[in-house]
Amino acid sequence: MTTISPTLSHRPAENQGDNPSPLLPPMRLAIIGGGRGGTALLDALHQIGTIAIIGIADKNPSAPGLRRAQELHVPIYDQVSDLITHQQPSLVLDVTGDPTMRSVLQELVPPGTDIVDGQTSRLLWLLIQHETTLQTELLHAEKLAGIGSFAAGIAHDINNPLQLILGLAENLTDETDLEAVHLQAKDIIEAVKRTTAICRDLTSYSRRASLRPDGLISVNGKLDEALKIARYAVALQDIEIRKHYQPDVVVKGNPDQLLHVFVNLITNAVQAMEHRGTLTLETASGSGTTQVRVSDTGSGIAPELLNRIFDPFFTTKPPGKGTGLGLYNIKNVIHHMHGTIGVDSQVGHGSTFTLTFPEDPGQDPERARP
Ligand SMILES: Nc1ncnc2c1ncn2[C@@H]1O[C@H](COP(=O)(O)OP(=O)(O)OP(=O)(O)O)[C@@H](O)[C@H]1O
Ligand SMILES: [Mg+2]
Repeated sequence: MTTISPTLSHRPAENQGDNPSPLLPPMRLAIIGGGRGGTALLDALHQIGTIAIIGIADKNPSAPGLRRAQELHVPIYDQVSDLITHQQPSLVLDVTGDPTMRSVLQELVPPGTDIVDGQTSRLLWLLIQHETTLQTELLHAEKLAGIGSFAAGIAHDINNPLQLILGLAENLTDETDLEAVHLQAKDIIEAVKRTTAICRDLTSYSRRASLRPDGLISVNGKLDEALKIARYAVALQDIEIRKHYQPDVVVKGNPDQLLHVFVNLITNAVQAMEHRGTLTLETASGSGTTQVRVSDTGSGIAPELLNRIFDPFFTTKPPGKGTGLGLYNIKNVIHHMHGTIGVDSQVGHGSTFTLTFPEDPGQDPERARP
């Protein structure tokens, strides 16, 4: 199988569309303040290829921004002066809200270095928060658009138990044997429970991703849940499903969003196989990372399209069939989880999407949410 890179790790920094001029050196940005503002800016700006975050400073060692910086391998300083003199930023973003910081910075920064602080840095933070809200809305809109294609699957799955209930109820009208009545009533109850479970799964999937804080998620359980949901969107009966799960694999994130990611990857895989082939789901953890792999034996992706499939609205489906937002949203969720997504594909043979997450040092599988 021809491998593109070993894995085309899709980070926006590598997305050719991002860099307006590859000749310009990246902007060297220092963040002062590791509170909520500093953390949000760090999260958003580190994804931009033309910006190099050269350090963050906060005198409080337990500031959340410092922890996030550690995860992102951004240098951490407790003294602003050390950050400025060691790293020589071209732009300093002050989000401390401390009115005395401007004069401190003006003393420290070399000529030509800009300082953004006060209302301007607050405006930047508000814009970033707004973008996060828009991304969440887009994620939800794309999920709802996808649920439209579930109709046939849902109708089929609800119709089966309904037909059974109808048959049993018809029998009951003539049944005089009390024991037979009891048995058939039990079968009716079971069939009703099956339809209720279908409705419960779908209502829970279609709701807006919860705003609860990120927690530990059991990845194997989430993949199984996603298979159940994906069954409504795509026919799985002629697909061989192989699971290679390492036990107790967990990642940190939002469980609703991760479920959506898995449903999208499985749906894409089955669609690429035109409903016939082998779908392989793998999980593994070790050496500081956790990996999830979704592979198919489908059409594969032409090398010249590999860099475009994560772009918003890119789709090879006929008009009206796909939004082209599936992989774009997946990429955003994975980046939010500090992970990467890679694809390895060969035309005519299939594709493998690999998600790689940093292993959470404090993780305890027992505490993982289903
Ligand atoms: N497993 C896969 N095998 C082959 N091609 C794929 C695979 N996954 C994605 N693609 C390609 O990437 C494109 C973009 O996928 P994405 O999920 O973003 O949107 P879509 O599937 O076209 O639309 P929607 O997700 O709204 O149905 C697809 O149209 C397809 O060309
Ligand atoms: Mg898709």
